[in-house]
Amino acid sequence: MRQDIQLVLVLALTFGLLGCSAAPEGETGSSSTMTDSLDPHSFARPDEVRVTHLALDLTVDFDHRILEGTAALEFEGEGSELVLDTRNLDIQAILLDDGTAADFSLGEEVEFLGRSLTIALPAGTKSAIVRYVTDPSAEALQWLSPQQTSGGKPFLFTQSQAILARTWVPCQDSPAVRMTYEATIRVPTGLMAVMSAENATERSPQDIYTFRMAQPIPSYLLALAVGDLAFQSLGERSGVFAEPSVLKKAAWEFAEVEEMMDAAERLYGPYRWERYDLLVLPPSFPFGGMENPRLTFATPTILAGDRSLVALVAHELAHSWSGNLVTNATWNDFWLNEGFTSYIENRIMEELYGTDYAKMLAVLSRQDLADTLEEIGPEAADTHLFLDLRNRNPDDGMTAIAYDKGAAFLATMESLAGREVWDDFLADYFSTFGFESLDTERFASYLTENLLDANPGLADKARLEEWIYGPGLPSNIAPVVSGAFDEVDRVAAAWAEGATAAELETAGWTTHHWLYFLRGLPDNLSGTQMTGLDKAFGFTTSGNSEILCAWLTVAIRNDYRETDSALEDFLTRVGRRKFLKPLYAELAKTERGLEWARGVYAGARSGYHSISAGTIDEILSWSG
Ligand code: BES
Ligand code: ZN
Repeated sequence: MRQDIQLVLVLALTFGLLGCSAAPEGETGSSSTMTDSLDPHSFARPDEVRVTHLALDLTVDFDHRILEGTAALEFEGEGSELVLDTRNLDIQAILLDDGTAADFSLGEEVEFLGRSLTIALPAGTKSAIVRYVTDPSAEALQWLSPQQTSGGKPFLFTQSQAILARTWVPCQDSPAVRMTYEATIRVPTGLMAVMSAENATERSPQDIYTFRMAQPIPSYLLALAVGDLAFQSLGERSGVFAEPSVLKKAAWEFAEVEEMMDAAERLYGPYRWERYDLLVLPPSFPFGGMENPRLTFATPTILAGDRSLVALVAHELAHSWSGNLVTNATWNDFWLNEGFTSYIENRIMEELYGTDYAKMLAVLSRQDLADTLEEIGPEAADTHLFLDLRNRNPDDGMTAIAYDKGAAFLATMESLAGREVWDDFLADYFSTFGFESLDTERFASYLTENLLDANPGLADKARLEEWIYGPGLPSNIAPVVSGAFDEVDRVAAAWAEGATAAELETAGWTTHHWLYFLRGLPDNLSGTQMTGLDKAFGFTTSGNSEILCAWLTVAIRNDYRETDSALEDFLTRVGRRKFLKPLYAELAKTERGLEWARGVYAGARSGYHSISAGTIDEILSWSG
């Protein structure tokens, strides 16, 4: 059936039949209002007509930095219009399943959201094919020049979350809409394509790759990467893709992923996506990780050489339950994705490395939370778990509140209900809502009905409303204590009292001990103290990105110029926003720092993803 449609489209395009009935862009009064939609970040009206399957056929054109081809959409529902989200897409033609060209119109451009695409549907229409081209500035796409990769070949990757899928696929770009998908991706000779779907592990001699995602997923999990990739197996159900020169290191770092999968399954029930592979991206990837189903995208900055940063893998894997299986209905409910995932990440780490290790991670998470509360103010509305992101960029919700306050709430529930009861509750939650999207309110009533009401006194102790709809941190928060960090405190105190850095007893310290130590350093340090620390511990030349970033932040704060060239190199090489943001923000605090930062940024910006550049533009008041 789908092939027939494609054939009709090819014929129609060949004979120039299309494009005649399309209304000029923006002319018809299509809806740019969202009042009838529950998701404030989508124009779609899935309650009327809902997309159920997507078939992509795209050609990847590195010379023009565009994707070009078709998106065939199958849908259900009785409505007379299909409304899709688009942003900077050039819609060339739309063909319906009866072989006729569709009437369609694009709505007015709305900030952050782009334009609605409304397609008129004669009764009985079940599918449509959209022929389109992406814009070179499409925000979901980062086109890397050969210089930006380790192997000197061009590279492309997508980042669809939160609402950027619409910049490369016309779709109902709401996390409340799920669809299965298939894709045919045509790439330049010698490059390999991978997606958040069933992947080949070998190169295609024809340079054409086909994909199938049989489980229904929301659009923000659509993902594609194209580059000089190689694959190495990690276990029965897992493996890693990376550029050839990075592959060995990556495979070593991620060797424990099967154990993580087993641990997560013991806790929360079966892994529903068959395989779990990772893709290591070039260093400009703006995030630490992205939970694209079956294929997590990861920054190379977690390849520390000692497996000390693999909590990120536990995190992205955890999304296979919280997020990908049970999905937040809107971005206001983002904590349902990230808070649950951060909590589960910690539980997986505890399973593999023990409670002492997990407690260190939990203390660092609480520190992030405290910093964020201080930054945005403990009473601010953005400290509520349930957010109001209407008319805002949903990225604004990507703070420690969703992650760390969310995780703290669940840890508090665990301690109140007891671990066994709580674990059973969560496993039931994932099986009840599997492959569905739900909002905060629905979660709250499920929790109330299935746990709180069944356990006398628990509802009062939990203070659910306060946690979800109130500011700051409720006083019933479960405390976290790390004995390992108490030890670091003692060493730091000895140093503050005059012991030299070289005398400190730091044998056996892990990355997390060092991070805690660096975070706890006094605000003002002398040049002698800085040099002493650097000499004794070699922070400036650390190959661990987290330690280096924490140290560089201290160095900027204390105007310790010895690190300038390491800092410039890091800011130029790495595009991960989590690192760029605190470093540029610290620089921007002084006149001289700001000027220096702008100088570095002028050279580095073109190598950053638009997501990172957008954030740094603001910090440096950059206008080009
Ligand atoms: N899903 C997020 C990344 C994301 C969130 C992208 C919102 C766009 C919008 C991912 O799972 C994530 O949380 N990544 C973290 C790492 C994690 C260990 C906290 C990151 O990239 O820093
Ligand atoms: Zn996450």
